[in-house]
Amino acid sequence: MRRPLVAGNWKLNGSGASIEALVKGILTGASELDDVSIVVCAPYVYIPQTADLLKGSEVGLGAQDVSDQSEGAFTGEVSAAMLNEFGCQYVIVGHSERRALFGERDEDTAGKFAATRKQGLIPVLCVGESLEERESGITEAVVGRQLDAVIALEGVEALADAVIAYEPVWAIGTGKTASPQQAQDVHAFIRGRIAALNGDVAEKVQILYGGSVKGSNAAELFAMADIDGGLIGGASLNAQDFLAICQAGHNANH
Ligand code: PGA
Repeated sequence: MRRPLVAGNWKLNGSGASIEALVKGILTGASELDDVSIVVCAPYVYIPQTADLLKGSEVGLGAQDVSDQSEGAFTGEVSAAMLNEFGCQYVIVGHSERRALFGERDEDTAGKFAATRKQGLIPVLCVGESLEERESGITEAVVGRQLDAVIALEGVEALADAVIAYEPVWAIGTGKTASPQQAQDVHAFIRGRIAALNGDVAEKVQILYGGSVKGSNAAELFAMADIDGGLIGGASLNAQDFLAICQAGHNANH
Protein backbone atom coordinates (compact mmCIF):
# COMPACT_ATOMS: atom_id res chain seq x y z
CA MET A 1 0.00 0.00 0.00
CA ARG A 2 1.10 3.58 -0.59
CA ARG A 3 2.36 5.48 2.45
CA PRO A 4 -0.41 7.74 3.82
CA LEU A 5 0.16 11.48 3.62
CA VAL A 6 -1.72 14.09 5.63
CA ALA A 7 -1.00 17.70 4.69
CA GLY A 8 -2.32 20.77 6.48
CA ASN A 9 -3.08 23.88 4.43
CA TRP A 10 -3.19 26.81 6.84
CA LYS A 11 -4.33 29.23 4.11
CA LEU A 12 -4.43 32.90 5.22
CA ASN A 13 -4.47 32.12 8.94
CA GLY A 14 -2.15 32.43 11.91
CA SER A 15 0.34 34.68 13.64
CA GLY A 16 3.82 34.01 14.96
CA ALA A 17 2.37 33.09 18.34
CA SER A 18 -0.46 30.88 17.10
CA ILE A 19 1.81 29.06 14.66
CA GLU A 20 4.36 28.35 17.38
CA ALA A 21 1.64 26.85 19.59
CA LEU A 22 0.16 24.88 16.68
CA VAL A 23 3.45 23.37 15.53
CA LYS A 24 4.50 22.49 19.08
CA GLY A 25 1.13 20.81 19.55
CA ILE A 26 1.48 18.81 16.34
CA LEU A 27 4.99 17.72 17.31
CA THR A 28 3.77 16.25 20.61
CA GLY A 29 1.83 13.59 18.71
CA ALA A 30 3.58 13.33 15.35
CA SER A 31 6.55 11.19 16.39
CA GLU A 32 4.28 8.23 17.25
CA LEU A 33 2.80 8.31 13.76
CA ASP A 34 6.00 7.55 11.91
CA ASP A 35 4.32 5.54 9.17
CA VAL A 36 2.35 8.60 8.04
CA SER A 37 3.94 11.49 6.16
CA ILE A 38 2.77 14.66 7.88
CA VAL A 39 3.21 18.04 6.20
CA VAL A 40 2.19 21.59 7.09
CA CYS A 41 1.82 24.30 4.43
CA ALA A 42 2.44 27.73 5.94
CA PRO A 43 1.89 31.26 4.60
CA TYR A 44 5.12 32.43 2.93
CA VAL A 45 6.27 34.79 5.69
CA TYR A 46 5.94 32.10 8.37
CA ILE A 47 7.97 29.52 6.43
CA PRO A 48 11.32 30.31 8.12
CA GLN A 49 9.73 30.22 11.59
CA THR A 50 7.90 26.98 10.82
CA ALA A 51 11.09 25.43 9.42
CA ASP A 52 12.90 26.30 12.66
CA LEU A 53 10.14 24.81 14.80
CA LEU A 54 10.12 21.61 12.71
CA LYS A 55 13.89 21.14 12.82
CA GLY A 56 14.83 17.61 13.93
CA SER A 57 11.29 16.28 13.40
CA GLU A 58 9.90 14.15 10.59
CA VAL A 59 7.11 16.63 9.83
CA GLY A 60 7.52 18.11 6.36
CA LEU A 61 7.13 21.72 5.33
CA GLY A 62 5.24 23.09 2.35
CA ALA A 63 4.18 26.36 0.73
CA GLN A 64 0.67 27.12 -0.51
CA ASP A 65 1.63 28.50 -3.90
CA VAL A 66 4.69 29.43 -5.97
CA SER A 67 5.56 31.52 -9.00
CA ASP A 68 5.86 29.83 -12.36
CA GLN A 69 8.77 32.20 -13.00
CA SER A 70 12.27 31.68 -11.64
CA GLU A 71 13.35 35.33 -11.25
CA GLY A 72 12.94 38.85 -12.53
CA ALA A 73 10.38 41.62 -12.61
CA PHE A 74 7.41 39.78 -11.10
CA THR A 75 6.36 41.92 -8.16
CA GLY A 76 4.87 39.98 -5.28
CA GLU A 77 5.94 36.56 -6.53
CA VAL A 78 7.99 33.94 -4.67
CA SER A 79 10.10 31.41 -6.60
CA ALA A 80 10.56 27.70 -5.99
CA ALA A 81 14.29 28.32 -5.44
CA MET A 82 13.42 30.69 -2.58
CA LEU A 83 11.11 28.08 -1.06
CA ASN A 84 13.85 25.50 -1.42
CA GLU A 85 16.38 27.77 0.31
CA PHE A 86 14.04 28.08 3.30
CA GLY A 87 13.50 24.35 3.71
CA CYS A 88 10.22 23.68 1.91
CA GLN A 89 9.82 20.19 0.52
CA TYR A 90 6.27 20.49 -0.83
CA VAL A 91 4.33 23.15 -2.74
CA ILE A 92 0.55 23.20 -3.24
CA VAL A 93 -0.22 24.15 -6.86
CA GLY A 94 -3.58 24.84 -8.46
CA HIS A 95 -5.62 25.05 -5.27
CA SER A 96 -9.23 25.83 -6.20
CA GLU A 97 -9.00 29.15 -4.34
CA ARG A 98 -6.09 30.17 -6.60
CA ARG A 99 -8.06 29.04 -9.64
CA ALA A 100 -11.40 30.63 -8.69
CA LEU A 101 -10.35 33.79 -6.81
CA PHE A 102 -7.07 34.64 -8.54
CA GLY A 103 -7.83 33.55 -12.10
CA GLU A 104 -5.24 30.79 -12.24
CA ARG A 105 -5.67 28.78 -15.44
CA ASP A 106 -4.77 25.13 -16.03
CA GLU A 107 -1.63 26.19 -17.93
CA ASP A 108 -0.55 28.51 -15.08
CA THR A 109 -0.88 25.62 -12.64
CA ALA A 110 1.13 23.41 -14.98
CA GLY A 111 3.88 26.08 -15.07
CA LYS A 112 3.95 26.18 -11.26
CA PHE A 113 4.08 22.39 -11.16
CA ALA A 114 7.09 22.46 -13.52
CA ALA A 115 8.85 25.23 -11.54
CA THR A 116 8.39 23.23 -8.33
CA ARG A 117 9.82 20.05 -9.79
CA LYS A 118 12.76 21.90 -11.31
CA GLN A 119 13.87 22.70 -7.76
CA GLY A 120 13.45 19.10 -6.65
CA LEU A 121 10.39 19.98 -4.56
CA ILE A 122 7.20 17.91 -4.52
CA PRO A 123 4.15 19.54 -6.08
CA VAL A 124 0.76 18.84 -4.50
CA LEU A 125 -1.42 19.28 -7.56
CA CYS A 126 -5.01 20.17 -6.66
CA VAL A 127 -7.86 19.24 -8.97
CA GLY A 128 -11.61 19.30 -8.45
CA GLU A 129 -14.98 20.32 -9.83
CA SER A 130 -17.47 22.96 -8.72
CA LEU A 131 -20.99 22.07 -7.60
CA GLU A 132 -22.38 23.28 -10.92
CA GLU A 133 -19.91 21.09 -12.81
CA ARG A 134 -20.79 18.05 -10.67
CA GLU A 135 -24.50 18.63 -11.18
CA SER A 136 -23.95 18.94 -14.93
CA GLY A 137 -22.23 15.54 -14.91
CA ILE A 138 -18.86 16.86 -16.08
CA THR A 139 -16.75 16.05 -13.00
CA GLU A 140 -14.49 13.64 -14.88
CA ALA A 141 -14.13 16.01 -17.84
CA VAL A 142 -13.04 18.85 -15.54
CA VAL A 143 -10.66 16.79 -13.43
CA GLY A 144 -9.27 15.08 -16.54
CA ARG A 145 -8.63 18.45 -18.18
CA GLN A 146 -6.84 19.80 -15.10
CA LEU A 147 -4.66 16.69 -14.94
CA ASP A 148 -3.96 16.64 -18.68
CA ALA A 149 -2.59 20.22 -18.61
CA VAL A 150 0.20 19.05 -16.30
CA ILE A 151 0.82 15.81 -18.21
CA ALA A 152 1.00 17.75 -21.50
CA LEU A 153 3.72 20.05 -20.13
CA GLU A 154 5.73 17.68 -17.95
CA GLY A 155 4.90 14.15 -19.12
CA VAL A 156 3.14 11.48 -17.08
CA GLU A 157 6.42 10.33 -15.49
CA ALA A 158 6.56 13.66 -13.62
CA LEU A 159 3.62 12.48 -11.52
CA ALA A 160 5.79 9.77 -9.98
CA ASP A 161 7.43 12.50 -7.86
CA ALA A 162 4.25 14.41 -7.18
CA VAL A 163 1.14 14.25 -5.05
CA ILE A 164 -2.37 14.81 -6.39
CA ALA A 165 -5.15 16.22 -4.22
CA TYR A 166 -8.74 15.74 -5.33
CA GLU A 167 -10.74 18.52 -3.73
CA PRO A 168 -14.33 18.98 -4.87
CA VAL A 169 -14.84 22.75 -4.64
CA TRP A 170 -18.30 22.30 -3.11
CA ALA A 171 -16.78 20.40 -0.18
CA ILE A 172 -14.06 22.92 0.73
CA GLY A 173 -14.75 24.82 3.93
CA THR A 174 -18.46 24.06 3.63
CA GLY A 175 -18.77 21.20 6.08
CA LYS A 176 -20.05 19.07 3.16
CA THR A 177 -17.70 16.15 2.63
CA ALA A 178 -17.88 14.00 -0.47
CA SER A 179 -19.06 10.56 0.59
CA PRO A 180 -16.23 8.02 0.69
CA GLN A 181 -17.68 6.38 -2.44
CA GLN A 182 -18.03 9.70 -4.31
CA ALA A 183 -14.42 10.50 -3.51
CA GLN A 184 -13.21 6.98 -4.33
CA ASP A 185 -14.93 7.12 -7.73
CA VAL A 186 -12.99 10.25 -8.73
CA HIS A 187 -9.74 8.94 -7.23
CA ALA A 188 -10.14 5.73 -9.24
CA PHE A 189 -10.83 7.81 -12.35
CA ILE A 190 -7.62 9.84 -11.78
CA ARG A 191 -5.52 6.73 -11.17
CA GLY A 192 -7.05 5.03 -14.18
CA ARG A 193 -6.30 7.97 -16.45
CA ILE A 194 -2.67 7.88 -15.32
CA ALA A 195 -2.54 4.07 -15.61
CA ALA A 196 -3.60 4.31 -19.24
CA LEU A 197 -0.31 6.15 -19.84
CA ASN A 198 1.97 4.53 -17.26
CA GLY A 199 0.95 1.76 -14.86
CA ASP A 200 3.95 2.16 -12.54
CA VAL A 201 3.33 5.87 -12.03
CA ALA A 202 -0.37 5.22 -11.36
CA GLU A 203 0.51 2.60 -8.74
CA LYS A 204 2.96 4.94 -7.00
CA VAL A 205 1.30 8.35 -7.00
CA GLN A 206 -0.35 9.40 -3.74
CA ILE A 207 -3.85 10.81 -4.30
CA LEU A 208 -5.18 12.80 -1.34
CA TYR A 209 -8.78 13.79 -0.71
CA GLY A 210 -9.54 17.31 0.50
CA GLY A 211 -12.75 19.05 1.51
CA SER A 212 -14.05 19.25 5.08
CA VAL A 213 -11.97 16.31 6.32
CA LYS A 214 -12.21 15.98 10.12
CA GLY A 215 -11.17 13.47 12.74
CA SER A 216 -14.69 12.07 12.61
CA ASN A 217 -14.81 11.32 8.86
CA ALA A 218 -11.13 10.69 8.03
CA ALA A 219 -11.15 6.96 8.82
CA GLU A 220 -13.92 6.07 6.36
CA LEU A 221 -12.33 8.20 3.63
CA PHE A 222 -8.85 6.77 4.15
CA ALA A 223 -10.24 3.23 4.11
CA MET A 224 -11.03 3.58 0.39
CA ALA A 225 -8.64 1.82 -1.98
CA ASP A 226 -7.47 4.87 -3.93
CA ILE A 227 -7.47 7.47 -1.13
CA ASP A 228 -3.95 7.81 0.24
CA GLY A 229 -4.49 10.59 2.76
CA GLY A 230 -5.86 14.10 2.98
CA LEU A 231 -5.28 17.78 2.32
CA ILE A 232 -6.74 19.49 5.34
CA GLY A 233 -7.80 23.13 5.64
CA GLY A 234 -9.88 24.17 8.66
CA ALA A 235 -9.07 21.14 10.81
CA SER A 236 -5.32 21.68 10.34
CA LEU A 237 -5.45 24.85 12.44
CA ASN A 238 -6.00 22.90 15.66
CA ALA A 239 -3.26 20.47 16.72
CA GLN A 240 -5.62 17.91 18.28
CA ASP A 241 -7.98 17.91 15.29
CA PHE A 242 -5.09 17.61 12.87
CA LEU A 243 -3.45 14.81 14.85
CA ALA A 244 -6.75 12.91 14.94
CA ILE A 245 -6.71 12.91 11.13
CA CYS A 246 -3.04 11.83 11.08
CA GLN A 247 -3.99 9.02 13.50
CA ALA A 248 -6.69 7.89 11.03
CA GLY A 249 -3.94 7.72 8.38
CA HIS A 250 -1.86 5.57 10.72
CA ASN A 251 -4.83 3.27 11.46
CA ALA A 252 -5.61 2.90 7.74
CA ASN A 253 -2.05 1.69 7.26
CA HIS A 254 -2.52 -1.19 9.74
P1 PGA B 1 -11.16 22.38 4.31
O1 PGA B 1 -10.13 22.87 3.16
O2 PGA B 1 -10.55 21.19 4.97
O3 PGA B 1 -11.29 23.57 5.23
O4 PGA B 1 -12.45 22.06 3.61
C1 PGA B 1 -9.40 21.96 2.38
C2 PGA B 1 -8.52 22.70 1.40
O5 PGA B 1 -8.96 23.71 0.83
O6 PGA B 1 -7.34 22.31 1.15
